[in-house]
Amino acid sequence: MFITLEGIEGSGKTTQIQTLVRFLTAAGLDCLTTREPGGTPIGSQIRSVLLNPDNGALAPTAEMLLYMADRVQHLETVVRPALSAGKVVVCDRYFDATLVYQGYARGLDRDMINRLHRLACNGMMPDFTLLLDLPPEIGLDRAWSRIHADDAHARESRFETEALAFHQRVRDGYLDLARREPQRFAVIDAALDAAAVGEQITAVLATFIKARFPSGG
Ligand code: TMP
Repeated sequence: MFITLEGIEGSGKTTQIQTLVRFLTAAGLDCLTTREPGGTPIGSQIRSVLLNPDNGALAPTAEMLLYMADRVQHLETVVRPALSAGKVVVCDRYFDATLVYQGYARGLDRDMINRLHRLACNGMMPDFTLLLDLPPEIGLDRAWSRIHADDAHARESRFETEALAFHQRVRDGYLDLARREPQRFAVIDAALDAAAVGEQITAVLATFIKARFPSGG
């Protein structure tokens, strides 16, 4: 089973992925937590190119292909082997992020992005996606506090330097995807405090797991 977490900058994915994994582990499932970009050693090198704020000159199509390259490496060496071994893979961002950031927000053709995904990744999609939704004003405020407090975040701030309108398009893109695939997405109100967001996540996961494993295991 392949579960992904998506959301704009500052939506709290890093905190909430822990809630998610705790819940699934308590339900008896063997989980592997990973992320894109950067879920492999080669992917980590791609990640630093993609998120370096000095790389403003990166062409949109080159940016998109680097995300795809990271994904191919990640799927082949981490995700597919773990799924074959019967694990639940929980991934911080996946292909929806490419459609939203490079498609809806940067303006690349979404049909082309979908075609490339089918070619490079065999069209592999998650079974379930949690979308942590909140207004970009709040998310960016949180993200910039982190960047000011910590050098590691400052080295990865290329997307945070984008205008508010860019982040609004990201949010609207995610909500559009969720409307198109309501059976795959659960939309979580991430403007609330971390505990309240965690409660929503465990509630939707409980429903999902029950539907997936009706006999309780
Ligand atoms: P994060 O790992 O801290 O969420 O940062 C990853 C950044 O990369 C975030 O700004 C979203 C962006 N991104 C894309 O633009 N396209 C993608 O396909 C993925 C996976 C992430």
